[in-house]
Amino acid sequence: MNEVKLAKTAGFCFGVERAVNMVYEEVNKGNLPIFTYGPIIHNENVVSDLEKKGVIVINNVTELKEIRDGGTIIIRSHGVSKEIYNIMSEQGLTIIDATCPFVKKIHNIVSEHSKKGESIIIIGNKDHPEVEGIKGWSVSKTYVVENESEIEQCDFDVNSMHCIVAQTTFNYKKFKELVEIIAKKVYNSYVAEKTICNATELRQTEAKSLASKSDAMIVIGGRHSSNTQKLYDICQKECKNTLFIQTINDLKLDDLSSVRSVGITAGASTPNIIIEEVWQACQKKILRNY
Ligand code: F3S
Repeated sequence: MNEVKLAKTAGFCFGVERAVNMVYEEVNKGNLPIFTYGPIIHNENVVSDLEKKGVIVINNVTELKEIRDGGTIIIRSHGVSKEIYNIMSEQGLTIIDATCPFVKKIHNIVSEHSKKGESIIIIGNKDHPEVEGIKGWSVSKTYVVENESEIEQCDFDVNSMHCIVAQTTFNYKKFKELVEIIAKKVYNSYVAEKTICNATELRQTEAKSLASKSDAMIVIGGRHSSNTQKLYDICQKECKNTLFIQTINDLKLDDLSSVRSVGITAGASTPNIIIEEVWQACQKKILRNY
C-alpha cells in the first residue's frame, strides 16, 4: 500500500513555540523597537516575517552595545550567558526571557554546582549558542566536549568533583557512552545530570522508527539547525533514501518516483505550515505512483 506518514512529533517543540509566541505578543503590543538576541528560531521564513514587522535581530555583543535608545530585547529559547544578560540590563533594555525552561534548568544546575567548586563538563557542540550560554553560567573550570577525542584532550582535575550536563539536543545514546568514558578519566567522581530534552528524544525515536519502515524519508528544517541535522543523521542510518529540505521548494518530487512509502519528520524550528505543504505534495505524488 502506498502511504505517507507524518511523525506526530514533527515541528515546533514547546520551548520554540513559546519563544516565537512571545515575540509575536510583543509585536502585537506595538512597543517598538523590539530586538531578539540572535534569530528567534532557525527558520528563515519566520525570521523574515518578524523583520517585516519591525523586529531587529542583534547578532553579537558588539551590536548589543551599539543599541542607544533602549527598547525591548527578547532572549530566544537557547538562552544566553550571565554576562550577556548583564550587558542587556546595562544597555537599559527591557528583557523578555524566552529561554526554554529546560535550558534554564541547565543554567541553574551549572551555576549551583560550579559555585560549590565542582568542575563542569558540558557535552555538546562548543560553537552552539545554547552551549555558549550554559558555559556562561559556570564560575569554575568548565570543559565542553562532543566526542571521545575531545575528552582525551581534557586535563581533568582528578581531585575535583565533576558535574556533567548535556546540550538539550544531544543524542542520548552518545551522551551515555561519553559519560562512561569520562567516568573512567575522573575515577567516578562525577554526577551526570540528564538534561537532554524529552522533546528531542521523542522526536529522534519516532524518526528512527519511521525511517526504518519507509522507502524514503524527508527531514524538514533549517540548514543551520543542529537538531534537524541530527534527525537527518539518525534517519539516514535507517533509510539511505533520506532527503534534507528546508521548504517545499527544495523537494524534487521525481526523487520519490519509485517509492511506495514516505516518512516525514521536521526539526524543532519548522512551522506547521511548511510541514503541511510538504505532506500534501507527497500525498499527491505517492498516491499516483504505481
Ligand atoms: Fe526546549 Fe526541548 Fe525545545 S529544550 S527549546 S523544548 S527542544
